[in-house]
Amino acid sequence: MGGGSGLWWVGRVLVLVQLVTGILGWGKEGHYAVCKIAEEYLTEDAVAAVKELLPDSAEGDLAAVCSWPDEIRFHYRWSSALHYIDTPDFKCNYQYCRDCHDSAGLKDRCVTGAILNYTNQLTSVYQNSNSVFQYNLTEALMFLAHFIGDVHQPLHVGFTGDLGGNTIMVHWYRRKTNLHHIWDDMIIDSAVKTFYGSDLANMIQAIQNNITDDWSNQLPLWEYCQNNRTVCPDPYASESVSLACKFAYKNATPGSTLGDDYFLSRLPIVEKRLAQGGIRLAATLNRIFASQGKRAKA
Ligand SMILES: *[C@@H]1O[C@H](CO)[C@@H](O)[C@H](O)[C@H]1NC(C)=O
Ligand SMILES: *[C@@H]1O[C@H](CO)[C@@H](O)[C@H](O)[C@H]1NC(C)=O
Ligand SMILES: *[C@@H]1O[C@H](CO)[C@@H](O)[C@H](O)[C@H]1NC(C)=O
Ligand SMILES: *[C@@H]1O[C@H](CO)[C@@H](O)[C@H](O)[C@H]1NC(C)=O
Ligand SMILES: [Zn+2]
Repeated sequence: MGGGSGLWWVGRVLVLVQLVTGILGWGKEGHYAVCKIAEEYLTEDAVAAVKELLPDSAEGDLAAVCSWPDEIRFHYRWSSALHYIDTPDFKCNYQYCRDCHDSAGLKDRCVTGAILNYTNQLTSVYQNSNSVFQYNLTEALMFLAHFIGDVHQPLHVGFTGDLGGNTIMVHWYRRKTNLHHIWDDMIIDSAVKTFYGSDLANMIQAIQNNITDDWSNQLPLWEYCQNNRTVCPDPYASESVSLACKFAYKNATPGSTLGDDYFLSRLPIVEKRLAQGGIRLAATLNRIFASQGKRAKA
């Protein structure tokens, strides 16, 4: 009957689909890590609101649905441009007005625009009990949690000409891949295998230990938003493009082989970005769901 080989093919296709869909976000592991870290820093009000909004499939765990926007991006085609920002080649800076648009030039259609959009949807309901229930807030929460992760991946705020490193073909050790994928997945995968006993939970724990220790005095700065704003994605995007120039693009010319030197010097950047993404996601959700506003009932 050949049922076994049929299943094998299904497996292959799934792996392929995962590789392809992984191209435009932290991979599954990166998003999971950001949301796991955030969970530790949520206030009671935010925990309650998040629980109420999560779909049943999450079984109460925000991290379980943080890759959802990558899974539906081919179904919700309009959402594709919301995962990243393309900036002018070699400028190494970001400006909302100049850069936040999709490839057709439609304004606000980029990751920082999407973060503002989904924050506004949630605050309009949670901070103002009179507002009309217009949006699917379960989706708003899943998009927001995902995009705050994405904006911390340096190559999500990369250059226009190489699509954030997607067209830069290099070798990661002996494997041929593109630079964007290395920053979404490969650095994290290699670290988990090399340093964390092949268990992502150990890597997350190590990052959490740093947050409560080495980085603890920086947390107020990470969480801070100017002018009492609920959310402030612009500085995160500026940091990302700056890190993209200093670390991601550096020494990663097309055709090069990236190995230990690149891996060991870039891993601390990746770990810190996962930490900052988690802390800032928690801070944003805490501000959105602060109990001062009357909570609307779904
Ligand atoms: C804002 O959210 C709505 C609902 O998901 C979506 O249709 C729209 O494209 C979003 N716009 C941006 C800029 O994120
Ligand atoms: C909201 O979105 C989720 C995820 O896409 C979906 O399962 C749910 O049915 C939606 N709710 C409504 C009221 O449309
Ligand atoms: C920020 O918000 C707090 C509490 O709502 C308020 O006391 C403070 O004056 C605000 N600061 C600014 C600069 O608006
Ligand atoms: C912890 O912080 C130190 C000092 O900033 C850094 O060198 C190290 O890479 C960090 N480790 C993790 C797991 O984030
Ligand atoms: Zn993404």
